Amino acid sequence: QMDDHMMGNGDSGPMGHGTIQELEASDESEQPLPIPTPLKPDRVTESAIYYTVVADEGTSRFFQDGKSTETLGYNGDLLGPMLELPKGKTVVIDTINRLDEPTTFHWHGLVIPAEMDGGPHQAVPAGERAQVRLDIDQEPSTLWFHPHPMGSTAEQVYKGLAGLLYVTDDAQSGLPNEYGVDDIPLIVQDRLFTKNGELDYDAHMNVDGTTGDTILANGAVNTTFDVQTETLRVRLVNGSNARDFDFTLSNGEMMTQIATDGGLLERPVPMKTISLTPGERAEVLIDFSQVKDNVALEADGVPFTTFRIGELDKTSIDMPTSETIELSTDEKIDRQLTLFGMGNMVSINGKTYDPDRIDIEAKRGDTEVWEIENKPDMMGGMTHPFHIHGVQFRIISRDGNPPADHEKGWKDTVAVSPDERVKIELTFTETGTFMYHCHILEHEENGMMGQLKVTD
Ligand code: C2O
Ligand code: CU
Ligand code: CU
Repeated sequence: QMDDHMMGNGDSGPMGHGTIQELEASDESEQPLPIPTPLKPDRVTESAIYYTVVADEGTSRFFQDGKSTETLGYNGDLLGPMLELPKGKTVVIDTINRLDEPTTFHWHGLVIPAEMDGGPHQAVPAGERAQVRLDIDQEPSTLWFHPHPMGSTAEQVYKGLAGLLYVTDDAQSGLPNEYGVDDIPLIVQDRLFTKNGELDYDAHMNVDGTTGDTILANGAVNTTFDVQTETLRVRLVNGSNARDFDFTLSNGEMMTQIATDGGLLERPVPMKTISLTPGERAEVLIDFSQVKDNVALEADGVPFTTFRIGELDKTSIDMPTSETIELSTDEKIDRQLTLFGMGNMVSINGKTYDPDRIDIEAKRGDTEVWEIENKPDMMGGMTHPFHIHGVQFRIISRDGNPPADHEKGWKDTVAVSPDERVKIELTFTETGTFMYHCHILEHEENGMMGQLKVTD
């Protein structure tokens, strides 16, 4: 099987092994889009909110033929609830691991101290629990949580562990914000099922990232959503292990992107195609006021969620604008990171992950410019979604050019194409040892990860 692995993509090997799966439209009958349950706090005080999040094994039914699938989920069989994290509050979460192996609870995109971050160093052993205290002090945004244990991150996410974090702020108004009605999350993932309906990670695993032919939206195939308002806010999360998605509407109309990973854009940007690499998020508004027929949301041209248009309530949108941030000039570079390779041979600055090595040391309060270069190999290389824990950053330039308008917002994950140089500016506000890595989860497992230590 080694040869298949080394081939990377292409059509080598048996199904699912060393290949990139083609996405296919589902022929299952339609089903309502599941909306993750907002998690009820255990208790709420003046300053703090208490939640319990349990990672557990479960069973899910993706297909009508009666086959059931072994899955993993938080507080349920698959995926997880939505946790509201109000800005300015402390959120205390009891995390419980009911899996039969270690896991961690990583709060992707949250700017918090490293010891609360749920990276590979904060493993919760099977059957045990741990408590985290998160002081929420960042822009309203769509973040997510997922496991991050050394060696089994990719498999645990693939089998279903992923949930939503909404940073909220009372001061943010003017946008649709009725959860599940005019403001919906859409966690999009590709998965491959065996004949028996299982998510057989070992059999499907690809060293360049496990892909599948089936598109799941909030954990379900071929979904529909009944649109009730003229404007729908959709929070797109690319929760796949490895696949980039290009999202479009089947009627060819524009969407309006209003937010990136970590908050609102300065200005809304009309977009025909929203491209997200693994780990990235975007919030969009879709205007149905002139639409009479159903419209499908497509990933790479394949429809997967149908918006059914009925009687629509009028909406009036009042776009809050975020402040313009002055960035460093394009000349400044404090650090250079070189992403290289594919498959098992991936590295950052020529090195693979070593938990005992600190790769970058920084001071709290400092602002730095990092240049991230994706060095192509003989086969051309591939796009790496580069993610940093514990910060939200800004993109300064791509190959010396200012970023496109839809990228001028807070980011925690940035796509770097082969042969491209992306400059970002980041300010360290939290201390501890944080990870930075490629968010193709199998690349991260193969060592495309380093450690950033921030001290006072
Ligand atoms: Cu979304 Cu280090 O992770
Ligand atoms: Cu993260
Ligand atoms: Cu990668």
